[in-house]
Amino acid sequence: MKGNFKSLPPALSYDPSTNTMIIIDQTALPGRLSLKKLTTIDDVFYAIKNMEVRGAPLIGLTAAYGLLLYANTIRTDDRLFFWSQMKSAANYLKSARPTAVNLFRDVDCVMSVFRTLAGAPVEKIIDEIKFRVGILKEAIIKQENAIGKTGAAFLKDGDTVMTYCNAGALATGGKKGTALAPIYTGHEMGLNLSVIACETRPVLQGMRLTAFELAKNNVPVQVICDNMAATVMKQQPIAAIFVGADRIAANGDVANKIGTYGLATLALAHQVPFYVCAPTSTLDLDLPSGDAIPIEQRDGAELTDLWFASSMAVQTASVYNPSFDVTPYHMITGGIITENGFWKPEAHHG
Ligand code: MRU
Repeated sequence: MKGNFKSLPPALSYDPSTNTMIIIDQTALPGRLSLKKLTTIDDVFYAIKNMEVRGAPLIGLTAAYGLLLYANTIRTDDRLFFWSQMKSAANYLKSARPTAVNLFRDVDCVMSVFRTLAGAPVEKIIDEIKFRVGILKEAIIKQENAIGKTGAAFLKDGDTVMTYCNAGALATGGKKGTALAPIYTGHEMGLNLSVIACETRPVLQGMRLTAFELAKNNVPVQVICDNMAATVMKQQPIAAIFVGADRIAANGDVANKIGTYGLATLALAHQVPFYVCAPTSTLDLDLPSGDAIPIEQRDGAELTDLWFASSMAVQTASVYNPSFDVTPYHMITGGIITENGFWKPEAHHG
């Protein structure tokens, strides 16, 4: 059966008549499809920080809409006052999470309106912010379609693909995501594809979100624990591994969900092609390598408590909970798929 992308509401929408953002609260999935309204800049900040919305492109888009929402609440004609309020809101949102570069890029894209329209009245600046946020949203859809088309060309009927974390529509606010785009596109083309979703400890985006959205779109999916990946690769043919990215350094090193590097290592050992799917907005060419990518450290309770009422670890144990890792460019054996085509980073290093 072909994918039915109408079955899920968008991960993020905006109602201009009430100046309200509506998100799927991803912390409640898959048990509850809970739509949550965001009406203040604090709501937006905590939705990003607490991972009610997550995934690099969606974090960026949420912050961009958050700035539009906030701009509409500042009742002033004073351009300088308006700018100073917006500037502190922009810095506030940028402090929500450190690793995904899309957050910084989208906030800067919105804030650059003050340079482009220097001296313009507040009302005109708000109109331009609205326009830019719309462009950012449209760009995501175009990027997903292009990534889907390029990535699907590496797949054939009957293939099984492995993926990690969630880099689907729930992670972009679009319809296909990045790493799941080749699968959705292949499915639309009539290929029978099935997906193995690694659970993705500690927050379980693979099991809770990827399996949920693939199942909603009628794509066969099987979930495994992260520590089963090696055995699965040994036992059955895996055509490819597709993952997303939070930031890609100039040399092709990729920061993505913690565990991606481990999966790439297993893929290398089992000769499974490893692809990273990401829009070019995830490239950070100011950073020469992945060593310079800031890796978020999150609350240890994510690791010890999961969704249980009490900790599964003794209180005296310290917890190390980096949220992302860096996969060196030479381990991305398939390549990096962007909306502009295909890039094999190793080829650029003599
Ligand atoms: O902590 P998360 O859930 O925001 O991490 C998400 C990922 O690592 C995704 O793979 C990445 O952001 C790409 S989403 C298209």
